[in-house]
Amino acid sequence: MSHSAFHYVDGVLHVEGVSAASLAEQFGTPLYVYSRDALTRAYHAYADACAGRRATVHVAVKANSNLAVLNVFARMGAGFDIVSSGELARVLAAGGKAENTVFSGVGKSAAEMREALEAGVKCFNVESIPELHALNEVAKSLGKKAPVSLRVNPDVDAKTHPYISTGLKSNKFGVAFKDARATYAQAHEMANLDVIGIDCHIGSQITEVSPYLDALDKLLELVEQIEADGMSIRHVDVGGGLGITYDDETPPDIGEFVKTLLDHIEKRGHGQREVYFEPGRSLVGNAGVLLTRIEFLKPGEEKNFAIVDAAMNDLARPAMYEAFHRIVPVVKRDEKAHKYDVVGPVCESGDWLGRDRELAIAPGDLLAICSAGAYGFVMSSNYNTRPRAAEIMVDGERARLVREREEVTQLFAGESILPD
Ligand code: LLP
Repeated sequence: MSHSAFHYVDGVLHVEGVSAASLAEQFGTPLYVYSRDALTRAYHAYADACAGRRATVHVAVKANSNLAVLNVFARMGAGFDIVSSGELARVLAAGGKAENTVFSGVGKSAAEMREALEAGVKCFNVESIPELHALNEVAKSLGKKAPVSLRVNPDVDAKTHPYISTGLKSNKFGVAFKDARATYAQAHEMANLDVIGIDCHIGSQITEVSPYLDALDKLLELVEQIEADGMSIRHVDVGGGLGITYDDETPPDIGEFVKTLLDHIEKRGHGQREVYFEPGRSLVGNAGVLLTRIEFLKPGEEKNFAIVDAAMNDLARPAMYEAFHRIVPVVKRDEKAHKYDVVGPVCESGDWLGRDRELAIAPGDLLAICSAGAYGFVMSSNYNTRPRAAEIMVDGERARLVREREEVTQLFAGESILPD
């Protein structure tokens, strides 16, 4: 958690100047709450380190696509990284600009390519030869040239969870390093493509700089070969992935991380190129919490359970990756703590939010699940016909509802029964 934005006042958790307990009273639970200040600080950490250098920040929309969140970044002049035409529509609705948006993703449809080309995105991060052909055709049909970067798979170990590690040979992502030079040559031959850059993305929740430097070395070596082949590479996109502190991780400071990468690129003689960053988690992760209320305490033979009103459909990360999120009481109690598994009401044993947590709690109490701003709401579902949570943005002393809680009737509004 960002210490300034989330803190206790007289034993009550506050988000900036607003009591989390009063937010839960007013808007109900489960409730996602974001701090504008924490979003702003995280963005500035990147943007300030990029200032005066040829480097730009593209917010990875997939980490948190709420319009109010995207708008906070758009107002500060951020670019965006999208992976679908749905995300493009969100960026535009939130005041972002297509010309500052890069389009990533391994399986873009022709319709998505068309929409993005018509909107005028800055670059397509292409991941395969068939995708190059498809994009070339779409661009031709529109009488345009599509700006293209190839996502190269540098085959480095990002030392993170296998499900969120993306730069190994065994991953589905990117063009294999050994094929990259030939793929660039093919792209160069396509009349409706304009080859302008190179990119990679080696994984997420990376808490060391060294895998980035390894990836950069391989990328820059390739850039030299490609330019020797007669193409010019204007930008190098290093992807996203810097990790955050969920528990006791110690990721590098964002500003230091950016400077280390930019210095490395300069030292290698590539300082004239523009560098793109695509951070997601490190911008939004510790700017949000998920508030939940305890329904029941259930002592068990081996474990005690705190059954809460948030579940795996609200926050999928523990169930999906066994991810750790700190869980804290919203109103502190003086009583003795006991060990609980914090679990949701969904009918699956995988529906847990935290295991073996020392908590002094009673039924009806509120808990805050920390570091829930990234890959939280965006990965939520309606499993068990559970309406998705509301989202709140706190700005100083004010709190604003930035997404209404879903109603059950909305969930099956598009369904119908057979007529006979
Ligand atoms: N760029 C590309 C091409 C990506 O695939 C991703 C994330 C990012 C940027 C942003 O990476 P970040 O800075 O957030 O690490 N759902 C998982 C994380 C999946 C990340 C997918 N790609 C989780 O909850 O941990």
